[in-house]
Amino acid sequence: MRIAHLSDLHFGRDAPDLVSALQTELHALAPDLVVLSGDLTQRARPAEFAAAADFIARLPAPVLAVPGNHDLPGWRPLLRFIDPWGRWRAGLGRALEPELDGAGFIAVGINTARRWGPHPDWSRGRVNRTQLVRIERLVTRAEPGAVRILVAHHPFLLSSELRRRGLVGRARRALVGLRRARIDLILGGHLHRGYAGVAEGVVVAQAGTAVSTRHKGEPNAFNWIRADAREIQVESRSWNGAGFVGAACWRFARAETGWQASVGGC
Ligand SMILES: [Fe+2]
Ligand SMILES: [Fe+2]
Repeated sequence: MRIAHLSDLHFGRDAPDLVSALQTELHALAPDLVVLSGDLTQRARPAEFAAAADFIARLPAPVLAVPGNHDLPGWRPLLRFIDPWGRWRAGLGRALEPELDGAGFIAVGINTARRWGPHPDWSRGRVNRTQLVRIERLVTRAEPGAVRILVAHHPFLLSSELRRRGLVGRARRALVGLRRARIDLILGGHLHRGYAGVAEGVVVAQAGTAVSTRHKGEPNAFNWIRADAREIQVESRSWNGAGFVGAACWRFARAETGWQASVGGC
């Protein structure tokens, strides 16, 4: 199967020429699934959700989208606490924790953004036990050989450059459960940096920001992923000023003990 993994679109801080170039690219690639791993908006404004909804409506494949911390109303404390996801529901009409079955795959989304946390940085996310139980329950219905995909905004793996950034809260405990549920692939964002690796035998692919001007040291990019029961390839396609081109690629193979990086890349 082929996945276009987009993240951190941040409508409200998007570059319109990139938005139309990305749509053209995605229609040419013809993915089986488009994943949006959170931060669809900059400040959860109704107009930003309307732009995101318009973007989703024009995508060429089924879409699985989860929220990020920017999709919470950050500057409206009352709204943030009383009805944190009202604007998401009204603007997109989509579930916060969607699931999707397709030919050769099952994809489950979880919402890791929290309206507050017991620490100064409320942008940090968290995964809880209820979410893990739901994931384990849903993936039991996957057909043999189906690729099992989890989508969450906050990262389950950090690159060596980003090791000082935080993982999603309770990541290590969650990874044990995700491995038990035989999740193959976790798709995330939040850091605006693209990389892939293995955590607890599960492949983790992080996408950069696809179309926003909120660059964190990398050009705009998205992940183009090819996956089956034996091999996963993650290609980061970066904007070079004229189009999205292959910039990096990681390859993984399934082994007895879980997924492993393949020597030599792809
Ligand atoms: Fe973001
Ligand atoms: Fe984020």
